[in-house]
Amino acid sequence: MFSDKLKHIAHLQMKTEMVNQTDEVVALEDRYQLATYKKMPLVAERGQGVWIYSVDGEKYLDLYGGHAVAATGHSHPHVVAAIRAQTEKLLFYSNLVYSDVRARAAEKLVSIAPSQLSKAFFCNSGTEANENAMRMARMATGRENIITFAGGFHGRTADAISATFLGKYREIGKPNVPGHLKAEFGDIESVKSLADDTVAAIMLEPIQSMAGIRTAPPEFFKALRDLCDERGIALIYDEVQTGVGRTGEWFFAGSEAGAGVVPDIVTLAKALGSGVPVGACLVNEKISAHIKENDLGTTFGGGMVAMAAVVGTLEAIEQDKMLENVKRVEAHLRDRLAEVPAVVAVHGRGFLLGLEFTEKAAPIHQALLERKVITGTSSDARVLRLLPPLCLSEPDADLFVDNIKEICG
Ligand SMILES: Cc1ncc(COP(=O)(O)O)c(C=O)c1O
Repeated sequence: MFSDKLKHIAHLQMKTEMVNQTDEVVALEDRYQLATYKKMPLVAERGQGVWIYSVDGEKYLDLYGGHAVAATGHSHPHVVAAIRAQTEKLLFYSNLVYSDVRARAAEKLVSIAPSQLSKAFFCNSGTEANENAMRMARMATGRENIITFAGGFHGRTADAISATFLGKYREIGKPNVPGHLKAEFGDIESVKSLADDTVAAIMLEPIQSMAGIRTAPPEFFKALRDLCDERGIALIYDEVQTGVGRTGEWFFAGSEAGAGVVPDIVTLAKALGSGVPVGACLVNEKISAHIKENDLGTTFGGGMVAMAAVVGTLEAIEQDKMLENVKRVEAHLRDRLAEVPAVVAVHGRGFLLGLEFTEKAAPIHQALLERKVITGTSSDARVLRLLPPLCLSEPDADLFVDNIKEICG
């Protein structure tokens, strides 16, 4: 009896210390970091698979993956082992030397891509991949203008933010880079009216994520490809979110949902390194033929640790059959969500899903967080976004739907 009481007191003390630790970390970050993000009141300590554990001992089901990054799940043992092994050999050397792990990363990435995309360029982020993609298109065509789409997001550096016709981004990126033209997503006529001989590239997110998971029919992609071929324009898919397995295919490029269309350039980041910063452009020969020494570069691109993360990530997705898992669990999730009248539509593909509610999604997002489920909002107020690790299981999906049902009544 006495020892039970002591145990209880010890437990309460530990809990208080954990809460103090949370408060301390929150106060420190708020004091020393610019307040550019609206943060969740959660201090992440460790992760495993689809779970994030906070310093106060709570466990969260992560359906957001830290902005779609944790595709292999948090701290996947194969990815961790690949990174650890590389850190013990060599942390970094630039592209001035050859590297076994860089060679393997490039080979692996090209081998899973549609066969036309035969060369890789490595950089460090999604925005940088898009900047380089636009630059390559300009070099290859000798033209300057770029067509992108209302609702698309391409990053926050000067050229990428100027290509972003979503919310306030172009405004905060002023002065904008000239030569960016806006078309309507899914509307080929709006593209045709802009696609003259000044246009170097048409760039798009094949599924617009931040806009609220907006899709277009396969015919749209086919029409874009035909238009680009006819008018000598490069087609760029920004697959920073859709790439590396998120849709249940390695890439949207070449997939049935996109009428099998393969663009001239695909850009990647986010999931590619499971959390180690890395971006990439995959290009076809029409583009690579124009790129010469010193045309592109970045100190950290192709660094050994990032390359080990790429190899580890792609191997983990393959070994754990995650693409098959995405398709199976997506179907299950859609079936279960059909039981929830408040969800009027489920947009997107694979694990890039937008749940459209009858009402605003922000209170549902908040209620889920209180129940220890992390999801994402979008710039469409009624759409809640799910970007979970590709290892999410059926029971995990059930847990999410059960919570949604309780919240929505
Ligand atoms: C489709 C898309 N493109 C580009 C970016 C920019 O990527 P990064 O934040 O790595 O620069 C993002 C980031 O959210 C994105 O979602």
